[in-house]
Amino acid sequence: MGLGKLLHKHDEHAEEGGTIDRPRAYDLFASIGYLGRRREVYTRLALFSGIRPGDKVLDVGCGTGYFSRILAQVAGYSGRVTGVDPSEAMIEYARRRAPANCVYEEGEGQALKAEDGSFDLVVSSLAVHHMPVAARAAAMREMFRVLRPGGRLLIAEFRPPSNRLLARLTAAVSGPAMRHSPHDLLGDLIPAAGFEILGEGDLPPMLYYVQAVKPTLEG
Ligand SMILES: C[S@@+](CC[C@H](N)C(=O)[O-])C[C@H]1O[C@@H](n2cnc3c(N)ncnc32)[C@H](O)[C@@H]1O
Repeated sequence: MGLGKLLHKHDEHAEEGGTIDRPRAYDLFASIGYLGRRREVYTRLALFSGIRPGDKVLDVGCGTGYFSRILAQVAGYSGRVTGVDPSEAMIEYARRRAPANCVYEEGEGQALKAEDGSFDLVVSSLAVHHMPVAARAAAMREMFRVLRPGGRLLIAEFRPPSNRLLARLTAAVSGPAMRHSPHDLLGDLIPAAGFEILGEGDLPPMLYYVQAVKPTLEG
């Protein structure tokens, strides 16, 4: 049985991960997958996002809300983090654990309900490979739309292990949606949506990230 079957009702042979409907199992697998370093990894991602106290932040494909709760600590009482995910089970789970400056809404990355320019920072971790392939460009355009000019974007995606045996093991357990290289997966989605890339890098044990900005009107 693949990991996909344990986490959601979606076809585990599909090229996209679909929604995840088992939040407790997801958090359990995530703590194991990060080899006990999940908090450290997401704290570093928060640092790479450039988040500042007072920021209005959107977390697209927020899942159990693990990352948004870390971001909320930095955003502070004058900031606010909004998590969006199409899975009702994930949103309910995240809501039960939400600090006062975090809100969660059901929704899809490719059809965000937020107004234009309403966020300082948009993050999305491990969510692009879960979106329908045909919806990924629209989701990136939506992230661009809801950011204010000068606002920042942080995308983190799964990076298969470089060790071939480990890579085959991960692929066998997780299914096709996690066999991709993050470079192939993201392609030119981020610049094509209008973003300017600021940086990129690997974050061990299994993430690749891209930092970008929505150009200001003056350029
Ligand atoms: C692997 S989880 C990542 C959760 C969280 N961001 C993290 O880093 O732990 C991927 C999430 O993407 C969500 N998802 C699936 N399709 C989506 C879509 N079209 N738009 C936004 N999120 C989606 C899934 O329901 C799931 O909660």
